[in-house]
Amino acid sequence: DSSQPVLYDYLFKIVLIGDSGVGKSNILSRFTRNEFSLDSKSTIGVEFATKTLQIGRTKTNTSKRIAKARKLNRHVAADCVMQNATFSTPQSVEGKTVKAQIWDTAGQERYRAITSAYYRGAVGALLVYDITKKQTFDNMQRWLHELRDHADSNIVVMMAGNKSDLTHLRAVSEREGQEYAEKEELSFLETSALGSENIEKAFQTILTEIY
Ligand code: GTP
Ligand code: MG
Repeated sequence: DSSQPVLYDYLFKIVLIGDSGVGKSNILSRFTRNEFSLDSKSTIGVEFATKTLQIGRTKTNTSKRIAKARKLNRHVAADCVMQNATFSTPQSVEGKTVKAQIWDTAGQERYRAITSAYYRGAVGALLVYDITKKQTFDNMQRWLHELRDHADSNIVVMMAGNKSDLTHLRAVSEREGQEYAEKEELSFLETSALGSENIEKAFQTILTEIY
């Protein structure tokens, strides 16, 4: 029905990237359908799923945005944000409905979607490694290069150390993850698609930063 109203204020495309087997597809299914599979197959080509959620802009976020816009030398953006800040009541949470459209592809080169199309229009990225596989963490550099080559330079990137439930198999400490993220100026969380830990929070953080 074409008279259906648009039920969201913003549509944001977010891409999932990282080596094969780190849990990208399960992070997506946990977030959008609350599903997890122990024996999921490698993704072939590209898939996407959406989830609509509320995000609020708090005073803190607004100040962060101003700082970020300044840092990026986006004077116009900074002015707009400051104007908004003047008109919003202190501590207010101005709720907006955001539709996250999350894209998922294979970590393995030969199964991957065409790179340029995958990144086109993306405003956020979740860069995933597996805390039990050091190699997937070492490859973060490679994925960041790919982002720099193909994605918009203002893309919001969050790094996630997934499978935090597998503490007995841990090969990368939380501190190593944190330090690397700080060096690269990325947000960072450890997540578990199995246990649901920080899955919602990871996307909320990306969406709030974009917005
Ligand atoms: P590709 O599509 O090949 O790039 O892999 P992927 O990154 O999408 O990995 P996928 O989601 O298919 O997960 C790979 C394996 O890891 C599956 O057996 C999942 O069940 C498992 N897995 C994913 N997330 C977690 C997690 O948080 N904890 C544990 N214990 N296992 C997980
Ligand atoms: Mg997959």
